[in-house]
Amino acid sequence: MFNNRTKIKQLLTGTQVGQEVIVMGWVRTFRNNQFIAVNDGSTNNNLQVVVELGIFDDETLKRLTTGASLKVTGELIASLGKGQTVELKAKTLEILGDSDSEKYPLQPKKHSLEFLREKAHLRFRTNTFAAVFRLRHSLAYAIHKFYNDKGFVYLHTPIITASDAEGAGEMFRVTTLPMDGTAQKNEDGTINYTEDFFGKSTNLTVSGQLEGELGAMAFSDVYTFGPTFRAENSNTTRHLAEFWMIEPEVAFNDLEDNMDLAEAFIQYLIRYAMEHNMEDLEFLDARLAEEEKQKPINERQEFGLIEKLKMVVDNKFERITYTEAIQILLESSHYKKKKFKYDVAWGIDMQSEHERYLVEKHFKKPVIVTNYPAAIKAFYMRLNDGCEAGKETVAAMDILAPGIGEIVGGSQREERLEKLEARMEAMHIPLEEMSWYLDTRRFGSVPHAGFGLGFERMVQFVTGMGNIRDVIPFARTPKNCEF
Ligand code: 4AD
Ligand code: MG
Repeated sequence: MFNNRTKIKQLLTGTQVGQEVIVMGWVRTFRNNQFIAVNDGSTNNNLQVVVELGIFDDETLKRLTTGASLKVTGELIASLGKGQTVELKAKTLEILGDSDSEKYPLQPKKHSLEFLREKAHLRFRTNTFAAVFRLRHSLAYAIHKFYNDKGFVYLHTPIITASDAEGAGEMFRVTTLPMDGTAQKNEDGTINYTEDFFGKSTNLTVSGQLEGELGAMAFSDVYTFGPTFRAENSNTTRHLAEFWMIEPEVAFNDLEDNMDLAEAFIQYLIRYAMEHNMEDLEFLDARLAEEEKQKPINERQEFGLIEKLKMVVDNKFERITYTEAIQILLESSHYKKKKFKYDVAWGIDMQSEHERYLVEKHFKKPVIVTNYPAAIKAFYMRLNDGCEAGKETVAAMDILAPGIGEIVGGSQREERLEKLEARMEAMHIPLEEMSWYLDTRRFGSVPHAGFGLGFERMVQFVTGMGNIRDVIPFARTPKNCEF
């Protein structure tokens, strides 16, 4: 019954003018008892359905409220009105689902993003969120296309794991043990996890990297693309407790190759969006420009959304070492005028104010920072040779993007067994439990490298949305798990 409908995106191309078509969608507005703006999510543009006077009874017309769903058949005709090239002259009209206009939360007016966040179950029906989530879809598709075209194998790494890949300890526990205090304890008072479902303590993964490395040691080139979980209590516009990450892992790649891959990847995704989703990008560009106008002049962004995206695909990313980055910060007038909240010195884990200064004020383009102090990075990163004592660095690379800060984190991996074991011991990581990981270094170890791109941060970058909660359908953040 339903599969003979035509999508509005297709109808608006105008190729079916003169034909009888079937449309289904939701009412956005109904004006003058004559014009229904219908949207079916295939495009941000609505189809104007014209209801000629006297054809339909008042009872039906009264039910054409914002949010109601309907089926219309009629002839597609060239439109005389402004704002559209075609319209549908309704012949039959069937309300599929009523929507009580008194109760429907989305009125035909502009709602704040904060309000819509609380109505996340309905916000896909707004122009802004429809554009954002069509773009999110497109980017997800482009990710698979990029790696597939390069011959990478998509590896599904586990969601439940017993290891803490990042060593950050910010994990959600997975257990079936009772929470009422009756779980069996060991002699020292700790929980006896041998009684738990997996017979050991388990958690949701923070990263698929370690398992990705296992795959790379056989396929050479693999990537993961899946949800990851972090129980960090960060209430910012860039942190989620549940987010998606893309993690390529490549054998025979060094840090340089890793950076080249990451840069090409990001540029490919942006180019793909510009080739396939220009209509949505133009809508979001205009939305952002409007939002910027509300800000004081000195806080406005220098470039429009599309302008910014073009600059990123047309220019090489800046590449600097961590040591150079610290030097730039120390020499900045920003630092001298004491405008940074956090101190700057070699060895610090740069705060987002520092990263943003580098990309937004100093370089005004994406920056890849390399060779961070070993002390602030994960155990698996390759120790650089010939470091001064106390100033050991690792072959790490973070990509910082304007308006976002860190969008990629990656490194060349430590492929030398003794060095890796020494580092793990120093960081109190139990070698016995990680024996499977160390096997890759025992049997045919090779130089390899990889990185993680935060998918939502990438979607934020492409859509210009300021808050990460607005680029994932249902955000999970501290004290918030609705829907
Ligand atoms: O820098 P991170 O922690 O790196 C890793 O997890 C490595 N294992 C990746 C690898 O080398 N395979 O995270 C990678 C990226 C960050 O740069 C950021 O874009 C994103 O993941 N990210 C988050 N995005 C949203 N919410 C959070 N809480 C995030 N934490 C990290
Ligand atoms: Mg990181």
